[in-house]
Amino acid sequence: MRRLLIVLFSLGLAAGCVSTSDSTETTVEPLETTSTTSRSQRTTEEPIDASGSTSVPSASGESDPRFASLDPGDPGGDAMGLAAARELGSIGDPTFPGLGNSGYDVQTYAINLDLTRPELVAETTVTLTALAELDSFHLDLVGLTIDEIRIDDEPALFMRDGREVIIRPPEPIESGQTVAVLVAYHGTPEPIADQDLPFNLGFQTQSWGTFVASEPVGAATWFPANDHPQDKALFTITISVPEGTTTAGPGQRTSSTTAEGVTTETWIAADPMSTYLASVATGAFDVSIETLDSGLVIRHAVHADAAIATGTELDTTVEMIAAFEERFGPYPFESYGILVVPEQLGFALENQTLSLFGTDIMTSPAAQPILAHELAHQWFGDNVSPAAWDDIWLNEGFATWAEWWWTERITGTNNVNTARFIPLEPLKGLPASGLFEINVYWRGGLTLEALRRDVGDEIFGQILREWSNRYGGGVASTQNFLDLVEELSGAGAADLVSQWIFAPTMPVLADE
Ligand code: TRP
Ligand code: ZN
Repeated sequence: MRRLLIVLFSLGLAAGCVSTSDSTETTVEPLETTSTTSRSQRTTEEPIDASGSTSVPSASGESDPRFASLDPGDPGGDAMGLAAARELGSIGDPTFPGLGNSGYDVQTYAINLDLTRPELVAETTVTLTALAELDSFHLDLVGLTIDEIRIDDEPALFMRDGREVIIRPPEPIESGQTVAVLVAYHGTPEPIADQDLPFNLGFQTQSWGTFVASEPVGAATWFPANDHPQDKALFTITISVPEGTTTAGPGQRTSSTTAEGVTTETWIAADPMSTYLASVATGAFDVSIETLDSGLVIRHAVHADAAIATGTELDTTVEMIAAFEERFGPYPFESYGILVVPEQLGFALENQTLSLFGTDIMTSPAAQPILAHELAHQWFGDNVSPAAWDDIWLNEGFATWAEWWWTERITGTNNVNTARFIPLEPLKGLPASGLFEINVYWRGGLTLEALRRDVGDEIFGQILREWSNRYGGGVASTQNFLDLVEELSGAGAADLVSQWIFAPTMPVLADE
């Protein structure tokens, strides 16, 4: 609860504006301990050597005879400077050592969800390219029952170990080969209630319908994934719902058919997306669609029970996009809009092309600042995503700076002069519980403001636009940002930014 309030505070809400009574306080095991392999221990105590062979325990902790010869050695790939060991079941993220997988690069996810039955019945095809010869590989999936896995239509062996699905293809996949991995599964998706984070993560089912809030580790609650921002892919999501229910998803709706009381709709996103930003929603949403002269599609989906709360708050969307385009460069995707769900979420979330809001924030005085914040994330976080979770200030600091900039424009004031006098912790070396703390938002925002005051508006704008140019559609690290600052404005400016990111004591913000 404390952390939730801090997040709200950090987003510029006056404490007390928002009811937090619906927020989750469930305490369960942290993510790591849900896995029977203690990957974090293995990573810190005994890094896996690339050629080494380690037995893979089954869910019961014993070796599964089917996998006696399974070798989870490191198949390589671009490590993006990550410190933790990469192995088949890990991409090497220091904050979440068990997250994501190595050995392949996902090209597309085709997710099919049937929501017309008592349980979710789903089929997801993950098309991936091997980066090394693979005798086996992993996908992340939390909960749910797997019925079958087929690789290029041949049945494959699999077993499960916590979040890991360990798959053994009928024959090794060659390096460079692309295969279609079909996973058929069913069950009731269970959001992850992690004590480190004040949000329930993943696919959420409510009396009124469903929605998704995954950042950082919840995507695997509804589809098998390489669940790390580094492995972006294209998404096609098809959802079947009882006739009369509306669906919403990323990108644009490309088809809708109804037969025998079932409506099936497909959403296709044209641009690469990190798994944590993929979302769908189902329920009684009013969808409004408008195509701007530029071709950009503005589509909002407001739940009928959230319409009054939403009022006219979304009317500023087009104006906000135009203002941000001047500063940050072209809006990076084909569509944008807001999904408003009839929940007191205590937060908003920048799902790609379809930011998620609850009614609490819509009715709070912070609605416009947070709308600006989530919109800015489409450039910073969504188009350019963090190389590791510990680079999260590249999302939250940038979105906070944008939120301040917009707020100053419309109200003549913002939180810079409050934030600058609070001693805030550095932005790197964060534990999982620290990803969404106030220092990440406010010291992150001040870091950019310090840079702007140092180099001036013009160069500052160049840096932000070049950031998207260079890293858009992929990921970038803190070091990439320091390098870019140095390249465009010199070592002095890079050193200043470095102090703001790393120094134990927060630097003093220069006056304008
Ligand atoms: N990225 C969100 C924001 O600041 C905060 C957030 C992180 C979040 N994880 C979440 C919100 C999970 C909802 C659910 O804009
Ligand atoms: Zn944010």
